Amino acid sequence: MDATAADHEARTAEARRILADNSRGDYTVPSPKLYPFQWNWDSAFTALGLAELDTDRAWREIEKLFDAQWPSGMVPHIVFWSDESTYFPGPDVWQTGDRVSMRDAVTTSGISQPPVAATVVRRLAEHDAHRTIALIPKLDAWHRWWHSARDPSGSGVIAVSHPWESGRDNVPDWDAPLAAVDTGGVEAYSRRDLDVVGAEMRPHQREYDRYVALVEFAAATGWDDQAIAQQSPFWVADPATTAILLRAERDLAALMSMAGLDPTEVEVRIARLEQGYEQFWNQEVGAYCSIDLRTGRQAGAATSASFLAPYAGVNAHHERVVAELDEWSAETAFAVPSFDPRRPEFEPNRYWRGPIWLVLNYMIGTGLAEAGDAERAERIRTSTRELVLRSGFAESFNPVAGTAVGGVQFSWTAAVWLAWASRDEV
Ligand code: DGY
Repeated sequence: MDATAADHEARTAEARRILADNSRGDYTVPSPKLYPFQWNWDSAFTALGLAELDTDRAWREIEKLFDAQWPSGMVPHIVFWSDESTYFPGPDVWQTGDRVSMRDAVTTSGISQPPVAATVVRRLAEHDAHRTIALIPKLDAWHRWWHSARDPSGSGVIAVSHPWESGRDNVPDWDAPLAAVDTGGVEAYSRRDLDVVGAEMRPHQREYDRYVALVEFAAATGWDDQAIAQQSPFWVADPATTAILLRAERDLAALMSMAGLDPTEVEVRIARLEQGYEQFWNQEVGAYCSIDLRTGRQAGAATSASFLAPYAGVNAHHERVVAELDEWSAETAFAVPSFDPRRPEFEPNRYWRGPIWLVLNYMIGTGLAEAGDAERAERIRTSTRELVLRSGFAESFNPVAGTAVGGVQFSWTAAVWLAWASRDEV
């Protein structure tokens, strides 16, 4: 065996070990020290990796997440299945109380996260179709919640009520909308993330204060979706969350058809998102950019969210979108940075202001392959593979140096390796 093949196998063994070590029975923590509970989109991506090892365990990961679904249909971004005190903000800050109805008493956060679960379930269903039956109504309720709670006017673009809801916590798009958030009522608190990761890789304190202020605002409404939509100081239409929902709706419709159910209502929602998505297009930038729905202002720079359009099945500006991707590729040794590397706000080590996230690479690569762009898709997959071979299973990666960024022993990075990056064929 040559050195490369041996390295490859060693990484695969390590990825399997990470998923085993991070498992807490029926769910997986994203990274034991930094994120010690169940996180929504982390779990969904992790299930893709688990499916390579044990399909029953992969299904359990998703089923467990939906055990925490709220009566409104919302699926929370964190489920506090255990009482670790090493994470901030915990249940005492979220104050979601008894709004959660489920078998087990458990507290959760009060916001959601990009809805990738239906897409993962469709993949799991290739082997085990009967197991989708119980999940389909739950996925449908969650998707309906996104439309009613986060796009109540039916405009076809989905808002996030908190940077954490987007999953891309400190992407520069949120800088201007966050500046309007009043932090006057925020009392002293202690960040726990900085116990584990260097401050230079994490969001700034001024951002954290606003994250906390937004949680306190929504908690004070009693997590009332209508009040949040009308009054949340942060209310931004997100091209990534919208693309991911659009993709997930297509997968849900396919799951319904497979199960003999009528997908007509889902198809109506798909049509609304397809039409709405064009609002994100910023001709000047040549990318799909977020829109601050409080001011009507659109972000003036591209993020990696723009490259999710093919994954959403939106190819209206395909040539321009991939031209932008190529321009970025010329700037950094590795693909795909989370933010435009030519911009002054680009920081290759700071969370979502530059580092590469392998789940984004997976979605971007998958979308490009489906759009018939095998060459670009393979370039991204190769870059992904090199990053893991070089720097292991980090939270994210510096696109210039290829070094590890953020937390270690990351479940979704291991999962992307097992399910996609390490494979001969996909
Ligand atoms: C964090 O704590 O940094 C998470 O991204 C919130 O979900």
